[in-house]
Amino acid sequence: MLVLSPYLSCPVCQETLRLTDDRRSLTCQNNHRFDRAKQGYFNLLLNQHKKSKQPGDSLEMVQARTAFLNLGHYEPILSALKTRLASHLRSTSLGASRTLNYCDVACGEGYYTHAISHFLAEYVESIHTTGLDISTPALKAASRQYKQATWLVGNAFKLPLAQASQDLCTFMFCRLSIDEVARVLKPNGIFVFVETGNKHLKALREALYTELKDKRAASETTITSAYFDLIDRQQVQGDFTLDNSVDIENLISMTPHVWRSKKQNKRVLIERACLTLSYDVTLHILMRNNTPYTVN
Ligand SMILES: C[S@@+](CC[C@H](N)C(=O)[O-])C[C@H]1O[C@@H](n2cnc3c(N)ncnc32)[C@H](O)[C@@H]1O
Ligand SMILES: [Zn+2]
Repeated sequence: MLVLSPYLSCPVCQETLRLTDDRRSLTCQNNHRFDRAKQGYFNLLLNQHKKSKQPGDSLEMVQARTAFLNLGHYEPILSALKTRLASHLRSTSLGASRTLNYCDVACGEGYYTHAISHFLAEYVESIHTTGLDISTPALKAASRQYKQATWLVGNAFKLPLAQASQDLCTFMFCRLSIDEVARVLKPNGIFVFVETGNKHLKALREALYTELKDKRAASETTITSAYFDLIDRQQVQGDFTLDNSVDIENLISMTPHVWRSKKQNKRVLIERACLTLSYDVTLHILMRNNTPYTVN
């Protein structure tokens, strides 16, 4: 059965959204209505909040990422994040809450959303999990597979969530909409940003491009905000090997390299059939302070 997250707000008028009696739609007091798709998600993305007809990751990218993630090579990243979260659940008011509202922004097909939600459920009495992504194929996959969450097609830069409603927000491998997190997090709420570093999949990029640009760390730029205090930061690095062409092709296909790199370079790499890679991510964990949210 659908467990709907409270505190959803209408993308048109920002009033509270409620489930209709037949549980098939969300409506607000101004009668804006959003029907539930047969897979279980709601589309709260307004046309004016999308830049293309089918924004976000395509079906092919979603399927490729599902196949890659299921190989388990990123399991150490998830495991490190759970360890950090466990420590903050013990030391902050997060763990003292009976009910926890958790939103995974740009959730893709829900791999991390589900894993983190399942993990948090051990610490609190109940949890309302929301997974939001701008890609409809991603949400179809997420809502088909995992039922215990509210799945929304929406824009990270226009979160359909009420102000100060969330205890935890995660951004895994995606762009950060820091002003929106500041708006939707409760005071003392936690926000996790998983950012890739320079060594991340470097061997893949070296094989696909002649010149590599160094990434500018977000840590000192986008994350700096008057609304947050950095409480924890950890780098997670390791190696893994893909030993067949299908896995290499899936890795390329789940990233923007699939359309950015030359066809010939992709083919040569896929035909190599063995590739050792490094993951290199930083887990940034920040706490929302008491600064009242003001619209920019
Ligand atoms: C690299 S994927 C990461 C997905 C997931 N967090 C994971 O780690 O498996 C980036 C995701 O961001 C989504 N995305 C891109 N722009 C977005 C936006 N403005 N709002 C919400 N999601 C967005 C894409 O559709 C894609 O699913
Ligand atoms: Zn409305």
